[in-house]
Amino acid sequence: MVTFPTLRPRRLRTNKVIRDLVAQTTLNVSQLVLPIFVKENINEPEKIDSMPDVFRYPPNEHLIKFVEQSYSLGIKSFILFGIPSYKDDFASSAYAKDGIIQRSLRLLRQTFGDKILLIADECTDEYTSHGHCGIVVNKNGKALVDNDESLEVHARIALSQAEAGADIIAPSSMMDGVVGAIRRTLDENGFKDISIMSYSVKYASTFYSPFRDAAYSKPAFGDRRGYQMDPRNSYEAIKEAHLDVEEGADILMVKPAHTYLDVIRIVKENFPEYPLAAYHVSGEYSMIKAAALNGWIDEKTAVLEITTAIRRAGADIILTYYAPKIAEWIKEGVPF
Ligand code: PBG
Repeated sequence: MVTFPTLRPRRLRTNKVIRDLVAQTTLNVSQLVLPIFVKENINEPEKIDSMPDVFRYPPNEHLIKFVEQSYSLGIKSFILFGIPSYKDDFASSAYAKDGIIQRSLRLLRQTFGDKILLIADECTDEYTSHGHCGIVVNKNGKALVDNDESLEVHARIALSQAEAGADIIAPSSMMDGVVGAIRRTLDENGFKDISIMSYSVKYASTFYSPFRDAAYSKPAFGDRRGYQMDPRNSYEAIKEAHLDVEEGADILMVKPAHTYLDVIRIVKENFPEYPLAAYHVSGEYSMIKAAALNGWIDEKTAVLEITTAIRRAGADIILTYYAPKIAEWIKEGVPF
């Protein structure tokens, strides 16, 4: 007697133990990086309206406490974003010895030693009055972000971050040649062991909007489409990643993550030998938050499903504002 169907994929879904046995993707706390906003001239953590449950921290005991709490959940990697009280056209507070990032890096390094990994976002947009990711020059009456004029300041910022104790520099400006310029400067100054995690494949995305509220880094004129990637392009990611690898990037990144799963897959398949990070960005965070706050989706299940999907697409490392929550939820037990 023929029993039909003969192929029954459902056998491997009978119960949680067997589903766990055959699961093809894992999500571990060690793969998460928590972004932290540090702000000059405040004494207490500040709420960010467009990012519920995310705060700006002063570089004092509040920052230490937040890192300590995250650490106790298993989060050991942090990426810092600085919000300075002074901005000018040249981002001078981004490389100041006592700048907000430099002070925060020093404080965390002194407090936690090598127990934590400190990544410094390297860009100028939070530090410039015009809010762009480089130096603006006037050409024929038009304001332009000049690529080559910008490389020196990016290298200078990176060096000051390394001097302040960063383990990894993460250039996010999308200037051509920025990885090479930073690598050279770090090497020439005795920082050969400092890694570069490049925002190699960074799209001009509307999903950065809450971040720009959080960091007051909305461009004063124009937009970033002249340097960040066009959302319509996927294979261009290979070109960008290729250049960064040649220039000395140790870790590649795709950003945003949830909206660009196809691109994560393309980069991973073309550069399998490089660790790949993906940034689940502010807008992707806030969309889930907003729906959850309205009771329209289950936050835990949604976040774990999306984060697992980012891993499944090929990301090894995930930068996410949800990192502490994910750590808690993994401990509680994931719903699949
Ligand atoms: C640039 C930078 C941005 C983000 C990370 N690094 C903003 C931008 O390019 O406008 C966005 C991160 C997020 O949206 O969560 N310094």
